[in-house]
Amino acid sequence: MANQDSRPIFPPPFTLPSAPIASTPAGRVKQVWAVGGGKGGVGKSLLASSLAISLARRNFKTVAIDLDLGGANLHTTLGVDLPRHTLSDFLSRHDHSLKNSLVNTGIPNLEMISGAKDSIGVANLPMDQQTRLLQELRTLDADYVVLDLGAGTGASTIDFFLSADVGMVAILPEPTSIENAYRFIKSAYYRKLATSSHLEPVAAIIQTALDPNNSLGIRSPSDLFREVNRASQEAGVRLKEVIDRFQPRLVMNQARTQTDIDVGFSVKSVCRKYFGIDLDYVGYLDYDSAVWQSVRRKRPVMLEFPNSRLVTSIERVTESLLKK
Ligand SMILES: Nc1ncnc2c1ncn2[C@@H]1O[C@H](COP(=O)(O)OP(=O)(O)O)[C@@H](O)[C@H]1O
Ligand SMILES: [Mg+2]
Repeated sequence: MANQDSRPIFPPPFTLPSAPIASTPAGRVKQVWAVGGGKGGVGKSLLASSLAISLARRNFKTVAIDLDLGGANLHTTLGVDLPRHTLSDFLSRHDHSLKNSLVNTGIPNLEMISGAKDSIGVANLPMDQQTRLLQELRTLDADYVVLDLGAGTGASTIDFFLSADVGMVAILPEPTSIENAYRFIKSAYYRKLATSSHLEPVAAIIQTALDPNNSLGIRSPSDLFREVNRASQEAGVRLKEVIDRFQPRLVMNQARTQTDIDVGFSVKSVCRKYFGIDLDYVGYLDYDSAVWQSVRRKRPVMLEFPNSRLVTSIERVTESLLKK
């Protein structure tokens, strides 16, 4: 399938979207959890599939959806052969409901929707397809829907992340991963501001801020605060409210030492200082050779190595997410 999306990928340049991110109509689904992070290979699919299994084992009806439209492989992490029906059917046919792409995983309480088959070049969806997808997934017969997102900061990926009730950023304790995670959070942050109807009166200032060389001298979120407050104190209060509601979760993957675990706290404090946001560091996953062993066997690590450190750490993260 060719990429018909004319929306630019950001950052930069950022643009205000032509339509708001899909509203979330009331449906059966309690919560949507999304796993993103700027980089490939950081464990997004491992985390998404393991959280989905963990939720299913707690008797929550769960659906895992592969939204890595450029490199779908969640089915393999869940031990499922590439299904006949995938998101491709839903995206290419208006008469095909999302339910028709559901696949049984063989794990009690867990179904999945596999990513697009002919996936090259569909990292971004046209806005109408994206909206349809985000609305329909809320109506699935499930307690939890877990989204496995693709790498990078493509517009669709950021919108999927922002539409979730719980948006997780997976990182490794490595400079390249951390760099990409900041880029991801920054993209989500500006996209959140740009799509917030509460901030319409200062949309022009936000639009200006999206240009990294803008004439107002806005180079950081605190500069943006200054300019918005200067324009209107009421808008400044609104801006603060929108930012306070932006609460990405952070999960450190492949932690080997206490120093690795502590890197998560450093990322948290940098985000507080730079963006003024309270990143929620929900926990870490141990580095565990059980992961690659189960990947080679095309079996979920949660089932292959139930007593592994990895499974213990996944259960801790699930517990922590459910408490909030
Ligand atoms: N906690 C871990 N311990 C050991 N290896 C891991 C761990 N997490 C991920 N890996 C390795 O990294 C690879 C990439 O993980 P994956 O979940 O596919 O990343 P992503 O979806 O972000 O691209 C896996 O195939 C596995 O070999
Ligand atoms: Mg993946």
